[in-house]
Amino acid sequence: MRYLPEFLDRSAQEQILRDLREAVARAPLFTPVMPGTAKPFSVRMSNMGVLGWVSDKAGYRYQASHPELLTPWPGIPESILAVWNRVSNYPHAPEACLVNFYGGEAKMGLHQDRDEEDFEAPVVSISLGDTALFRLGGTTRGGKTQSLKLASGDVLILEGQSRLAFHGIDRVIGGSSTLLKDGGRINLTLRRVTKSL
Ligand code: SIN
Ligand code: FE2
Repeated sequence: MRYLPEFLDRSAQEQILRDLREAVARAPLFTPVMPGTAKPFSVRMSNMGVLGWVSDKAGYRYQASHPELLTPWPGIPESILAVWNRVSNYPHAPEACLVNFYGGEAKMGLHQDRDEEDFEAPVVSISLGDTALFRLGGTTRGGKTQSLKLASGDVLILEGQSRLAFHGIDRVIGGSSTLLKDGGRINLTLRRVTKSL
């Protein structure tokens, strides 16, 4: 795992936010549900890129269109691609940028990101808004975990050994950032989905 605290300054964060507002106007946040049980996630989601990650009763998958509007996802803005280009050490562009929005009580259980075909590519995570308590474990469920605070502008890279590490969000600390005027947290994860060889 590579942790780059304060990687983005305030003006870079504000540029990303402006670009995100345009994208989310075209591809509104939706509430995914767990496969099988249909229990709703506490996080709301959208995507940018040629593919987007979705979860519904049928399962987890990447698909080219918004699950409700059935329209293609908006492209990944330059301001966000620039982060991938600077930190990924990977020669191909990301195909998906998952947008997670955490309101007051939202959290995310420990999971692995393993719906991609290509684990050679890293997952690049950008945090905006309120600070989150992030939990990172090993590659098996139930192992030792460590806790890390992710603040606005921080970038985290899951690569190599940590690419398939279990991770999740225990909680978001309300009122810890002034970036989002109504509070909450946005996490962006850039992913390569298909094998590029
Ligand atoms: C995720 O694992 O998709 C999100 C992680 C985060 O919100 O930092
Ligand atoms: Fe994840």
